[in-house]
Amino acid sequence: MTATIDVRGTEIPDLTNPQSYVAGVPHEAFDAIRAQPGLPWHPSEFGTYNGGFWIVTRYSDVIEIERDPTVFSSVPGAFFPLGNQDRNGPMSKHILFMDPPVHTRVRKVATRAFGPRVVAQFETWIREIVVEVLDAALPLGEFDWVEHVARLIPARVVAVVMGVPPEDRADIVRWSDDIFKGQANSEDGALMAAAFQAVGAYMDRLGRRKLAEPADDVVSLLAQSLARGDLDEGEYLMYTTALLIAGYETTHTLIGQSTRLLAEDEAVRVATREAIARGRQREVVDELLRVITPAMNVTRTATRDVEFQGQQIRANDVMLLLLNAANRDPAAFPEPHRFDPLRTGVQSLGYGRDGLAFGSGIHRCVGAQLAKLELRILLEELHRRGTRLELAGEPQRGWSALVNQLTSLPVRIG
Ligand code: HEM
Repeated sequence: MTATIDVRGTEIPDLTNPQSYVAGVPHEAFDAIRAQPGLPWHPSEFGTYNGGFWIVTRYSDVIEIERDPTVFSSVPGAFFPLGNQDRNGPMSKHILFMDPPVHTRVRKVATRAFGPRVVAQFETWIREIVVEVLDAALPLGEFDWVEHVARLIPARVVAVVMGVPPEDRADIVRWSDDIFKGQANSEDGALMAAAFQAVGAYMDRLGRRKLAEPADDVVSLLAQSLARGDLDEGEYLMYTTALLIAGYETTHTLIGQSTRLLAEDEAVRVATREAIARGRQREVVDELLRVITPAMNVTRTATRDVEFQGQQIRANDVMLLLLNAANRDPAAFPEPHRFDPLRTGVQSLGYGRDGLAFGSGIHRCVGAQLAKLELRILLEELHRRGTRLELAGEPQRGWSALVNQLTSLPVRIG
């Protein structure tokens, strides 16, 4: 039984409890909240300063809040349940937990490595990885898609981008899984701390090797920035860790949930096949990102008392920005619950058809092009082979109110 809370007379699932997401994202509750004026308050015993957070479901409200870090800061915490961190603790060295001018300096170091023109050159080797993974998985006939495909593609891609040698990649995946569990659930803090330490020690060693023998990869770039003094030691370690986790966790969620939709839903399958046949696979990727929204929410904290949407917000109030609800806001996407890659009438407010799947403003995801490329190539390869996947068992969802994750997706080739 999912615990519910009363928000101005509307019963909604407790958004602090991962259980509320097990049966799926509670979009009906989000729609009901969005239809009310102002912002509802959600009590919470942890992860906040003032005993709860404001729930933000509208597309334009998320953009407005993310636009001004002087009023709505990322320093105390950028996602729930890590919404109330020690401002001088270890997370203060994490790019997501920074405001300008520190954020501007740190972000500049690696964004070049993920720009559209650089990432476009990855197409050939990413396709090789995708083909290799599919060639090994599809002949199995019936298998777990998460284990054999969804996790392997982003793990291998991010390892190549970072410059992690093949013999160390299994360790990296294990640590990433442990850190994810800790970030998503307040009870798994010790697991996360141990994994952070292990990745940190590893990245320290790898950075030294890359300084001695630089290569065309992101760890070499970051190690050189550390040596030059553009980053401090803590920032270097957090940046490398953040890239690994962000590059792996959210992308395997995107690949897993996209495949689930294609296997489960005839309308999604037909719309996808028709769009790809017309060469519109980029739009398919964007629409999958919009409806899935792998990183479901982020937080910002008010730096001072401020009025927003007619609501009095106090200093230190946490704002829970529901990116998944914003991406189904009918004011931005007409008929938002319908899967339509070729949809028209998108009110983009400066963002594309994928809406706020990658956030907005100064923290908008640096890996967006890379993640999109991975899914596009996978869809193209499946389409080229005419592969039809069917569910072969019950998909298992990750235990998280943060990432829309699947831990298992049994499939068979139809
Ligand atoms: C489908 C895949 C992905 C999704 C849905 C996703 C989502 C997001 C979101 C929502 C943010 C903004 C957080 C905030 O506003 O506080 C973000 C930031 C970030 N993402 Fe991603 N991400 C994905 C893939 C990647 C990849 C592949 C990488 C790199 C290899 C990456 C690296 C980062 C970094 C470094 C930031 C922090 C940027 C900053 O604070 O300035 N992400 N991502």
